[in-house]
This record gives sequence, structure tokens and C-alpha cells, in this order.
Amino acid sequence: MQLQQRKRSQWFARRTESLLPAIDGRKPPCILANDCGGCSLQHLNDSSQTDWKHRQLDKALSRIGEIDHPSEPVLTDPSLALGYRNRALIPLHRDAEGKLRMGYYRRGSHRIVNLNHCPVLDPRLDALLEPIKQDLQATDWPADADLHQGDGLRHLGLRLGSRTDAVLLTLVSSTSDLEGLHGLAQEWCRRWPQVKGVTLNLQPQRNNKVLGTQTRLLCGEEQIEERFCDLSLLLGTTTFFQVNTPQAEAVIQRLCSWLLQNAGPTTVIDAYCGIGTIALPLAAQGHTVLGLELHEASVDQARLNAARNHLETVQFKAGDVKALLANALPSHEALVVDPPRKGLEPEVVDQILECPPRWLAYLSCDPATLSRDLKRLAGDSGVYDVDQLQPVDFFPQTTHLECLALLRRR
Ligand SMILES: C[S@@+](CC[C@H](N)C(=O)[O-])C[C@H]1O[C@@H](n2cnc3c(N)ncnc32)[C@H](O)[C@@H]1O
Repeated sequence: MQLQQRKRSQWFARRTESLLPAIDGRKPPCILANDCGGCSLQHLNDSSQTDWKHRQLDKALSRIGEIDHPSEPVLTDPSLALGYRNRALIPLHRDAEGKLRMGYYRRGSHRIVNLNHCPVLDPRLDALLEPIKQDLQATDWPADADLHQGDGLRHLGLRLGSRTDAVLLTLVSSTSDLEGLHGLAQEWCRRWPQVKGVTLNLQPQRNNKVLGTQTRLLCGEEQIEERFCDLSLLLGTTTFFQVNTPQAEAVIQRLCSWLLQNAGPTTVIDAYCGIGTIALPLAAQGHTVLGLELHEASVDQARLNAARNHLETVQFKAGDVKALLANALPSHEALVVDPPRKGLEPEVVDQILECPPRWLAYLSCDPATLSRDLKRLAGDSGVYDVDQLQPVDFFPQTTHLECLALLRRR
């Protein structure tokens, strides 16, 4: 181990070498495991990873949330411990000798660990990495994800409709001034029939946002189809969509059946709805749904997907949940929240506590912020009882864990 940095009373260390295999350890499936910052649990076998994640969740729930309701066993799909990602955005860098590097950052640094394969990526995308890298190597386009060296390519984006096989490729660049760009995009569409489109996303800002706001079509179609919960969804270059399609579907189906069994067809707010990944399946089950989402392009996409699936009982509003929720709460029986990692803002929890809908479903990607929010919503002075806490492993080999909390008003 090499000690790297101290944050308050905690030291962070980097594993440099394994001298003895741990009892529950194994040879990691990725040859770059000791260097790449992507998947830090792959030295543990699959069941030990799940146990570790479950313990982290239970610790957070009891220490931060003071919740004594036991959580269910973690929902896993052993057939998808690897090869589950339907999307990747991979940094690019061309060095002074002209060699192109493509890969994720080394732990704790901004140095790219060069890769040709990524075992957690769906094999249908993984097979494209090496030939695309070779094609990019053969151009004279500059590449530097961080833009320290000036303008050029920044990231390679790959997106898969895991149920349709359709692929959308994206070059993220600070400039469109790349000679032969259209020709290479056409070559990719010709060579691989599953590549339905190639886009250029312009991100000229020197910040850590991977994608910019402008996307140009280079070849084929701008969006690909994915099938999700028996619906047909169109996904574009910048669309947020859950990266593990089957696991996302499993947890959303769990949420939908819990609500239908308990409340029958009812009125539901889907706050932080993205492109309607939860709102649309709920509407398909007969609920009347209002989706709230900050990102306007996602709202447009959600409306398009509602029309595409002939769903008429769902509406979407663009804006901040904090500004829209209080007005919507009195006319709805159920609320679904799926916030970013930072969880619910205190004002949003205040609004829920002031006018609590009968049913509350909270899908969280961070056990610590979920626990913090549950303490207020379902603790001694809260207004909800916990019905179920269902952890779900969307991201095997990494430390991340999703959890669905299903609550009923006391
Ligand atoms: C974890 S994603 C969930 C998206 C969607 N439920 C899904 O499963 O695909 C969180 C979403 O919340 C949106 N968001 C973040 N802050 C927000 C806010 N203050 N008000 C409304 N939406 C917000 C983001 O744009 C993003 O689409």
C-alpha cells in the first residue's frame, strides 16, 4: 500500500501489490486492475463484493440514518458481473511522439491508463475499442481530454441499445476542425452495420464536464433505440440513461409492482425523472404521472418517448424539483424520487414532510445520502414507515451500490 492523501481523520491509500491473496480474493478479471481507477473491487470475488456492499449500506443506514429496518439481500445478476455497461465515455490523449492513448485515469491522477479492452463494457462495444483506436491513431488529429495541449479530441463515446444491438458512436472534441472527420464516420457506419450513427459533440470549455451542449450528426442517425420495460426508447448522444439495462429494469419493475399492489392505479410524481425511465413504465401501468426534470433536453426526449409509446397519462415539466414540487404534491398520492448522488436538498425534504404523499419510493445511488434523508423522512420525527429496502448491484467490480427504499405514510 502507498499512502496518498489525508482527508480529516482518514488516510487514503493505493494498492501497489498483492503479496498474499486475501481469503476472498482472486486474480482480477482486468489486466489493468492495479493501475486503472475504474473498478476498485475486482480483487474480491463476486459474492464477497456483494457482501462488502451490503455491509456498507447497513452501516450507513444504522449509523447515519438510525434506521433499524433490515435491508433485503442485494439484487444481483451473476451472468452480468462483467460486460454489463451499455455506455462508455473514454478519455483520449496523444503524446509528444504522436502515440494515441485511450483509457481511464490512473487512480488519483490524470494520467491515462492505455487500454484496448474493458471487461465491464458490453462485449458488443468492447470489440470496437481497438479498431477505433487504431483508426484514430492513423489520423493526425491532436487529442487531449484535459485540453492542456490545446484544441482537439477529448473523449470517445460509445452507446449501445442492449436489446436492439444498435450502436451510437461519438467523438467529443473541442473543435470541429478535424480533416477527414466525415469520411472516417462514414467508414465506421459502412464497416459495422450495427453502428447506426456517428456524432460529434463539441465541448470547448476547459472544465471537467465530459459532454458539451452542441452535437452534430456526422453519419447515419442521431439516436438509437433501446427497449426497456416493454417500451421503445430513443437515446441520443447526451441522454442520461441507466448504464446497466437489465438491472435498472429489474428495480424499476419492483417499484412499479409495489405501487400497483399497494395503491392501484394512482397519481404519481416522478421527481428527477431524466428521460422518463421510471415515469413511462408507470404510465404504461395505468398511473397518471407528472415527471419533473431540470435538464430541458431530457424533458424533450421524455415527451418524444411518451408519444412514441402512445402514453397519454404522462406529462413532463422542465425545472428544479425544489421550485416545482410543493405545488404538485397536494394533488398526488405517490412520489418517486431518483436524485443525483448528493441526495435530496433539505428544502425538498421539508416540502415532502409538509405535504407527504401516501406512498414514497426513493431510488438512490449513494447509501450515505439516502440514509441522511431517510433519517428525516422515516426516523422518529418523520412521517413514513419503511416497507422495503432493496439494494441492487448496477455496477459490479466497483464500490457503487443502488438502493430502492419503499415507504408508506404512517
Ligand atoms: C440519477 S438521474 C435519474 C434519472 C432517471 N430517473 C433515470 O432513471 O434515468 C438524476 C436526474 O436528476 C436531474 N436533476 C438533478 N438535479 C435536479 C434538480 N434540482 N431538479 C430537477 N432535476 C434534477 C438530472 O438531470 C438527472 O436527469
